Amino acid sequence: MEFSTVFIISNIMLLLSSASAKTASPPSLSPTPAPAPAPDFVNLTELLSVAGPFHTFLGYLESTKVIDTFQNQANNTEEGITIFVPKDTAFSSVKKSALSKLTSDQIKQVILFHALPHFYSLADFTKLSETSSTPTFAGGDYTLNFTDNSGTVLISSGWSRTKVSSAVHSTDPVAIYQVDKVLLPEAIFGTDIPPAPAPAPTPDVAPAADSPTEHSADSKASSPSSNLDGSSSHKLLISFGIWANLVLASFAVLVLF
Ligand SMILES: *[C@@H]1O[C@H](CO)[C@@H](O)[C@H](O)[C@H]1NC(C)=O
Ligand SMILES: *[C@@H]1O[C@H](CO)[C@@H](O)[C@H](O)[C@H]1NC(C)=O
Ligand SMILES: *[C@@H]1O[C@H](CO)[C@@H](O)[C@H](O)[C@H]1NC(C)=O
Repeated sequence: MEFSTVFIISNIMLLLSSASAKTASPPSLSPTPAPAPAPDFVNLTELLSVAGPFHTFLGYLESTKVIDTFQNQANNTEEGITIFVPKDTAFSSVKKSALSKLTSDQIKQVILFHALPHFYSLADFTKLSETSSTPTFAGGDYTLNFTDNSGTVLISSGWSRTKVSSAVHSTDPVAIYQVDKVLLPEAIFGTDIPPAPAPAPTPDVAPAADSPTEHSADSKASSPSSNLDGSSSHKLLISFGIWANLVLASFAVLVLF
């Protein structure tokens, strides 16, 4: 009895400490120690070229010159910026014709549609989900709706639905979140173009870069209460990891009595 109590308590400590370790670890690839006081400048091109792969999105950012708009917002405003970046695989699952039929102005609108003129941390989306329409850089009717589903941020463009699958960078004034699909604005796709069937949900090939070592216990704890589609359970959202650990910890406490 004594032994198992000690064992369980030390397990709880382990879980809690692994939870805080996850929160602390930055999403950046290189585990370099914090350099001397860095200037505020965040080079978006550089960030996007090392993460991802986001080459397709970056290519559009550059060809439309939208990168300058975004970099300027990051450099020179108090508001900051939040960018939703689809991985290259997200672009390959959009019907080629869907994008190739667009004019260059429309392409530019689609890319502008992927950013909000304000910095939002992941926690801020709880509040945003009470707002019915959030304006994007594309302006006007080009708005996004957010829903916070137990820590998973769901995004609706009116024409496509997706979710934030990981945080690439989230330090005021710049937030960059990876999304599973290209955000297709209803203002373009709801009118000009004959509706293409929504791309079938592609099974995610486990994205190696996304997840630091995942405890198998985490995924076990997640399954009973998760009503989301299967693919979300292996997405390592930071808050979700903590949540799973807390559930495990409280379960262990119950076992004590
Ligand atoms: C930002 O990074 C890109 C890619 O590494 C580089 O080509 C560019 O010169 C950088 N821009 C600035 C202003 O440092
Ligand atoms: C952003 O700031 C960097 C560093 O000060 C500068 O090199 C770059 O030209 C600026 N870019 C824009 C678009 O303001
Ligand atoms: C956002 O939500 C509002 C209110 O529920 C709805 O009228 C609107 O069509 C939605 N827009 C998108 C882009 O999903």
